[in-house]
Amino acid sequence: MKIFVVTAFPKLVRGPLDESIIKRAVGKEIVSIKILDLRDFTNDKHKQVDDYPYGGGAGMILKPEPFFRAVEHIKAQEVLENPSVILMTPQGKSYTQDRAKSLARESDLIFLCGHYKGIDERVREYLVTEEISIGDYVLTGGELAAAVVIDSVVRLLPGAIGDFDSARSDSFENGLLDCPYYTRPESYRGMKVPQILLSGHHAEIEKWRKDKSLEHTEIRRADLLGNIVKSIDKT
Ligand code: ADE
Repeated sequence: MKIFVVTAFPKLVRGPLDESIIKRAVGKEIVSIKILDLRDFTNDKHKQVDDYPYGGGAGMILKPEPFFRAVEHIKAQEVLENPSVILMTPQGKSYTQDRAKSLARESDLIFLCGHYKGIDERVREYLVTEEISIGDYVLTGGELAAAVVIDSVVRLLPGAIGDFDSARSDSFENGLLDCPYYTRPESYRGMKVPQILLSGHHAEIEKWRKDKSLEHTEIRRADLLGNIVKSIDKT
């Protein structure tokens, strides 16, 4: 998979993706992540990427030309299969694990990061194929949101996580939250690991995990159970 991120603040995106599992996935050539600086696609000497909004009002707007040039540059340089051009914005569609799974099946992704007050509407209208929000709150820009989406997609790519079963048992994979886990020591300050996990009875452990997963979901995210009922109704 080839991922491109167009941003006025490359360091904000690079940092989170240059550690741990994502860094290893890049090292193993499972994915390439190129971060393009919007300022490199300006052609004035001040490398200006933003300007005042027409009609007045507070806040600066990212100019359209650098985004168009950056995406044209990517498409001219690389052989890409009709890549999605994703704008990170709080006005986008809410991001979910299902969307992460479907993005992980695409071969190339281009992310555009808004910043400041917003981005010229022509970018949204003529360049962007999809808009994603990572939640109902407003960040200073789309950079951290893009890093979140990229992280969640790359960890699903085959080979990115050593133990693939680990990804299969994630929260949301079966519509439920994941069960609790324990590691050594067996007893810590009087707090004990549940006996069943030490029993070696795999079938019973599996049942305990399923029950806990359901219990956690009921207590913390009862709304998810509603989704499961709806999807069962559909089948
Ligand atoms: N940019 C600013 N806030 C955002 C959010 N919640 N999701 C995606 N991009 C954003």
